[in-house]
Amino acid sequence: MSAPAAAQLVGRGIDRVDGRAKVTGSARYTAEIPMPNAAYCVLVGAEIGSGTVTSIDTSAALKSGAVAVFTHENLPKVAKVPIFPSAYGGPAPGQSFFPMQGTTIHYFGQPIAVVVADTFEVAQQAARLIEATYLAEPAMVRLDDGRDRQYQPDKVFCGLVPATQSRGDFQAAATQAVHTVDTTYHFAANHHNPIECSATAAMWDGDSVTVYDSTQGIVASQLTIAAYLGISPGKVRVVADYVGGGFGGKAMMWPHVTLAPLIARELGRPVRVVLNREQMFYGTGLREEQEQRITLAADADGRIRGLRHHKLSVTSQFDDWAELSLEVAGKAYGIPNWDGRYRLIKGNIMTPTFMRGPGETSGMVALECAIDELADEIGLDPVELRRRNHAAVDPQTGNPWTSDGYLECLKQAAERFGWTGERPKTPRVDGNWRIGWGVGTAGYPVYLPGQPQRAHARLFADGSLVVQAATQDFGTGIATAMTQVAGDAVGVPFDRIRIDIGTTEYPNIAAAVGSMGAGMISAAVHTACIELLAQVIDLAIADDKSPLHGYDPHLLEGVDGRLRPKAEPTLVDSYADVLGRRGLTDIEAIGSWRPSADPTRHGMMSFGAQFAEVAVDPELGLIRVRRMVGAFAPGRVLNAKLARSQVLGGLNWGLSQALMEGTIADPRDGRWSNSSLLEYLVPVNADAPEVDISFIEVDDPFINPLGVKGLGELGMVGAAAAVINAVHHATGHRIREIPLRLEHLL
Ligand code: MOS
Repeated sequence: MSAPAAAQLVGRGIDRVDGRAKVTGSARYTAEIPMPNAAYCVLVGAEIGSGTVTSIDTSAALKSGAVAVFTHENLPKVAKVPIFPSAYGGPAPGQSFFPMQGTTIHYFGQPIAVVVADTFEVAQQAARLIEATYLAEPAMVRLDDGRDRQYQPDKVFCGLVPATQSRGDFQAAATQAVHTVDTTYHFAANHHNPIECSATAAMWDGDSVTVYDSTQGIVASQLTIAAYLGISPGKVRVVADYVGGGFGGKAMMWPHVTLAPLIARELGRPVRVVLNREQMFYGTGLREEQEQRITLAADADGRIRGLRHHKLSVTSQFDDWAELSLEVAGKAYGIPNWDGRYRLIKGNIMTPTFMRGPGETSGMVALECAIDELADEIGLDPVELRRRNHAAVDPQTGNPWTSDGYLECLKQAAERFGWTGERPKTPRVDGNWRIGWGVGTAGYPVYLPGQPQRAHARLFADGSLVVQAATQDFGTGIATAMTQVAGDAVGVPFDRIRIDIGTTEYPNIAAAVGSMGAGMISAAVHTACIELLAQVIDLAIADDKSPLHGYDPHLLEGVDGRLRPKAEPTLVDSYADVLGRRGLTDIEAIGSWRPSADPTRHGMMSFGAQFAEVAVDPELGLIRVRRMVGAFAPGRVLNAKLARSQVLGGLNWGLSQALMEGTIADPRDGRWSNSSLLEYLVPVNADAPEVDISFIEVDDPFINPLGVKGLGELGMVGAAAAVINAVHHATGHRIREIPLRLEHLL
């Protein structure tokens, strides 16, 4: 028994199975789920950044029609739940601090009250009538204001990653260096702005609750709610039919996710909570403000012998969080001596969180811009400098990569971009514009889930197939890819397959974070479907009425709803006949996949290369990205169209990171002064450049059954650096403030 010889569906650019529902508007998102008698909850945020609440007057809100107001005085206490990344399969609150359990205010916008009313309009109006008084203390939000309070944590990232890491002897390498670059890049804070704001709705039935949640991990939501409420996960069902984008902001479960079922239980009626756009800036984590200092020590030929990478960033009062900026940057090149360190400043912000390419992308901006500076210093072409420093093996362990592809990506992207030979020393001039070119390396780790990933597959006697798994499609197109994987594994046509996802009643899949979704979900589906095919084969060969009776199961394959010998494709037995002769209505299988790749034997990373062409008008300070070219090696591509869409998003995110996104804190009270889509810039169509995306096929036999390394975030890494380096090429100015803004150029 084996998978069909020729994969027929996997890889093809098949249209999304949910495309029609989305474009016709029939797709229902969390805030739109009909719930009879539901009440609307509106959160009220603190108007100070630090201090205590001294009083909350709810009388005007209650007089104006609110059915209830919850504050620290009457909200039930929640259990203490430690934070843990959602990928590992446990409860995953975004921060260890839960609001409204006492009077302390740690950050501006921290919820101090929840106003409940029969309609959204009344709840909103009543929320404006909440009168709170405070004892305010000075709030510290900006990195520069807290520089003297920086500290060295033991670990960052939920206590899982050591805050100091090294290999070799950086100091020795620095002493022997012929060329040295020592440079510091500063990054503004970034905030989450998916199209669909976070929302949760909850409805109790006896002691069980159904929660609709806009989440990247329905199981993580389920476990987090159960832990906070102190009830069994079996009493919590989480549903997410459609999710309008996540990007890391819905990867961890923020307080509103628990407030909805908590308040619904208190009130004895269903409730919904929807964050508004401004509340997204205070309710779903952020990419923290940070600076990264890079020191490169290279020999005369441009071989980098040492990398020192020190990051200083702002975290909350209660968690040692830093996005993981050192990990990919520390392995992207074959640099033998490395000194990496995270330092933190406790600020009055909520705990930072994952944001697309969480850490990899900022770390690679710092490193890739520093490498551009080194290329200048040496007088070597930036592409050639990168080629010379390729990491042939994982530099931290010396182990081979499970698969690589970096040099092929660099070569292909450079050729498609037109960067063959050396980059011209001076930029081309086009009217008032100066045209600059930049390059950046992409890399993203292959993360493996900490628990088995499961899916359920069921073949009916009419030859149709249903696959179920507790995952959710938040825009990646995973349901479509699951259909392709299942179709190939069982040998059932695409239009005979139904994929059921979006409820925790199905077998457990970890949250889709860290670009793990496609790899782990395809593995679970494949495993279940192969198991199902084995059952069909066993039924057929044991049946003396089957033309395949007595056949060696290894010689059979399933194609198009029929079994056949690989060597004799005209001899067939249809699945309908195999089941029908036995009087079976259906057969089913649960597949359970556990990663077998061993990080102690292999380095695991996806690679790519990015190029950008920018036009800069130095008199007006305008920067326009004209072209971006990326080549990527993400292992097996499940669906060419979806993969391209993912990366297209990544390139535009990179442009956005380089030139647009940044939140500015008001030092008086710690509020984010541009907490709206008017003033928090993201690219629109007019900003989007011409894009050329290609994939390099690399075979990865270690990662998972289909060799899928994942590419959700890879497309963003290196893209911002390519843009920033192109601006330098165009202008000769090295801007080390991200995002680059008009004022930096004038
Ligand atoms: Mo992704 S930023 O790890 O959800």
